[in-house]
Amino acid sequence: MMNKPALEVSGLYKNFGSIEVLKGIDLTAQQGDVISIIGSSGSGKSTLLRCINLLEIPNAGEVRLHGELIEMHTSKDGLRQPANMRQVERIRSRLAMVFQGFNLWSHMTILENIIEVPIQVLKVPKKQAVEQAEGLLHKVGLFDKRDDYPNHLSGGQQQRAAIARALAVEPEVMLFDEPTSALDPELVGEVLAVMQSLAEEGRTMLVVTHEMSFAREVANKLLFLHQGVVEEQGDPKTVFANPKSERFKQFISTVY
Ligand SMILES: Nc1ncnc2c1ncn2[C@@H]1O[C@H](COP(=O)(O)OP(=O)(O)OP(=O)(O)O)[C@@H](O)[C@H]1O
Ligand SMILES: [Mg+2]
Repeated sequence: MMNKPALEVSGLYKNFGSIEVLKGIDLTAQQGDVISIIGSSGSGKSTLLRCINLLEIPNAGEVRLHGELIEMHTSKDGLRQPANMRQVERIRSRLAMVFQGFNLWSHMTILENIIEVPIQVLKVPKKQAVEQAEGLLHKVGLFDKRDDYPNHLSGGQQQRAAIARALAVEPEVMLFDEPTSALDPELVGEVLAVMQSLAEEGRTMLVVTHEMSFAREVANKLLFLHQGVVEEQGDPKTVFANPKSERFKQFISTVY
């Protein structure tokens, strides 16, 4: 199983009504790949991540996690849905998503946020879940905040807590949707540093980002989306040094 790509997306299409948002996306993440996904607003980056973890149902195409195909069923009236909700639950539990807005549960302490899914969903014994959570809090530099509520933390601390919570499910693939975009500039670095350490551990990550230094220096693959198609892709250093697509050239000239 482990020599199959961690994640494979092929021929993915997504429409919202008459708007075609994704128009045939192919993407392969090998184990340990860090793929940055960049592109201008509305190009379909969030929709792509949401289709991968089935927050949205793609209109066509396939998603495989370590070779396992997420099965879809099309009804007589043309509605496409997952064939097997049990499989969807299982696949979701092998992925973890980190959002721009952190999405921590405000009525729970940081520690409670981290142990909630392991205990309630994965049925990990509480003592073990707490020990694991404490390890993760050390890792993201928040052990002393374990009993605080999210609104007592800075944005950077909240996002590091959200990353610890994502790690607590021991995900096979992590999906980040602009994890630093809501942060004050001085707090971006601490979150990127945690993400870089995850990359160095060999975690498989898809990262939608506007942080070009992360895309160039930390990620090992780059995907540039434009109007729902992959307009440019490859090794980040090569692609930045030698862009083929005019649109990509324009894009990088606007973000620098
Ligand atoms: N639930 C929805 N219903 C209708 N249209 C949607 C929905 N979600 C996204 N869209 C549309 O799909 C397009 C792509 O949106 P998406 O959020 O994927 O873009 P993005 O690349 O993540 O942009 P940004 O950089 O602003 O986050 C946009 O035109 C958006 O308005
Ligand atoms: Mg988005």
